[in-house]
Amino acid sequence: MLGGKELRHAISMASRWTWASCNLSSNLYRWNKTFIHTSSCHRKCELTSKRYQVKRGKYNEINEENIKFFTELLGPHRIIEGESELEGHNTDWLDTVRGASSVLLKPKTTEEVSAILSYCNQHRLAVCPQGGNTGLVGGSVPVFDEIIISTNLMNKVENVDTWSGVVTCQSGCVLEALDQHVADFGLMVPLDLGAKGSCHIGGNVSTNAGGLRLLRYGSLHGSVLGVEAVLASGEVIDCMTAMKKDNTGYDLKHLFIGSEGTLGLVTKIAIHCPPRPQAVNLALLGLSTYENVLKTYVAAKSKLGEILSSCEFIDRSSLECVEENLKLKPPISSHEYYMLIETSGSNGTHDEEKLNIFLEDVLGSGIVDDGTVASEPSRMLHIWGLRERIAEALHHEGYTYKYDISTPLSHFYKMVEDMRKHLGSKIIRCCGYGHIGDGNLHLNITTDEFDKEVLNRIEPAVYEWTSKVNGSISAEHGLGFKKRNYIHYSKSSGAVTLMKQMKKLLDPNGILNPYKVLPDE
Ligand code: FAD
Ligand code: MLT
Ligand code: ZN
Repeated sequence: MLGGKELRHAISMASRWTWASCNLSSNLYRWNKTFIHTSSCHRKCELTSKRYQVKRGKYNEINEENIKFFTELLGPHRIIEGESELEGHNTDWLDTVRGASSVLLKPKTTEEVSAILSYCNQHRLAVCPQGGNTGLVGGSVPVFDEIIISTNLMNKVENVDTWSGVVTCQSGCVLEALDQHVADFGLMVPLDLGAKGSCHIGGNVSTNAGGLRLLRYGSLHGSVLGVEAVLASGEVIDCMTAMKKDNTGYDLKHLFIGSEGTLGLVTKIAIHCPPRPQAVNLALLGLSTYENVLKTYVAAKSKLGEILSSCEFIDRSSLECVEENLKLKPPISSHEYYMLIETSGSNGTHDEEKLNIFLEDVLGSGIVDDGTVASEPSRMLHIWGLRERIAEALHHEGYTYKYDISTPLSHFYKMVEDMRKHLGSKIIRCCGYGHIGDGNLHLNITTDEFDKEVLNRIEPAVYEWTSKVNGSISAEHGLGFKKRNYIHYSKSSGAVTLMKQMKKLLDPNGILNPYKVLPDE
């Protein structure tokens, strides 16, 4: 309970908050955040094979006869060749890794994917599955000349079961488009992230993407009920059950969730979509100490309970980066730390009451200094933009060294402070933001261009620190190309050996996304 003085303070603070009541119906309110890939790197980045001194595997190079086969299978318009046409598919979103593939294939059906993989396996041709190419660990682009298999044209929604909320679709559906499609049925995709305008649901499943609402809706290992995938041999593995409960044998779909295209190419998905919330509120809070951030998180969990749908963290440097590079203006004054707290529910009045009690508590006790609340879509989008566009803002500075770790909350921000001291003046920025509700920190460092010396100062130090606190060196982005050799910091050697055995069993010739996930021999 707040004392008299504290309560008066809380109420006077609360009166500064902006409220505009709006009960959101699924038809009126849609997340419409279009993701724009703005590259500030006008120079081509160095080839991955050169920068990282990678040795090419024993795969065949593509020849005229192979092209003839693919042309007969797909027709001439679904094979893309040529350096300039493939430039965007050979380079990752961050402009940090670049491959040299000369061919991209665009299948439309599972049968076509099966025919492609079966042929590639027989001819020892390596492939790189690619969705929206928004991956952040170098997994979505080739390292050498792997054939790119794009899911761009595999974008059919097959079924929406309005009784159960289970949606069945092909893997190339763009996340935002899928979410808008299910909105017409009063549902939402239980995953949201800044790249939603470009990333594919198949890419999300293959990276086991976490995003902004994992805290509420859980990981894709829970909400994805069925997966269809094509193995390297071309065999189609149908695990497309749409049942929530299914304990018949090993749950093989989990092998494809998060395996980053190294065990199979995901062609279809059955995903459980919860009801779209009727009322959404978003608070942006300003705080002066990290301890207060933790206290606010604990208060949000206990006071908001089941309506808490997101709890995000931003430090001063991250927000400054968005202000400076994207010219976005925060609606509150400058603070050391910020939090975004979102509530989603079915009853606006009930949610507002709960949010009020929470805000009175954190303001009254002085753990939060300032803040604003929005419930109109345009204001919420603006506030979300400050958080979701940090990666884009950092990209404007040149080269981003991106780390995605989970740590116990007590160590969450220390990592940023220690790294800042460790790197001194060699860098432009060292900042931290992330999904604090999931213990997931995004530690980011920028320099104007790639600097091997800076990289060597960061790695493996960042992984050693993470491992010391029993954290994970890759919380949600995966290992891809860049992090594969650090897997031992988070997984035992027994576990890594078993992963290698599974890879050998499912892809004996190693044609599926080579040089990714598993460490070099
Ligand atoms: P791609 O980048 O094309 O591929 C990613 C990996 O999956 C590659 O290894 C690729 O080979 C493999 N793959 C793709 N499709 C298939 C398939 N059908 N079958 C088998 N393998 C496949 N990630 C998070 O977890 N949380 C976030 O909040 C988040 N926010 C982001 C914000 C921005 C601005 C950006 C640029 C990225 C963000 N990401 C985030 C990272 C990224 O993992 C996700 O954007 C997304 O899950 C990748 O999907 P995609 O379709 O772009 O896959
Ligand atoms: C995010 O949470 O914004 C994404 O994971 C991207 C990033 O780490 O920058
Ligand atoms: Zn993230």
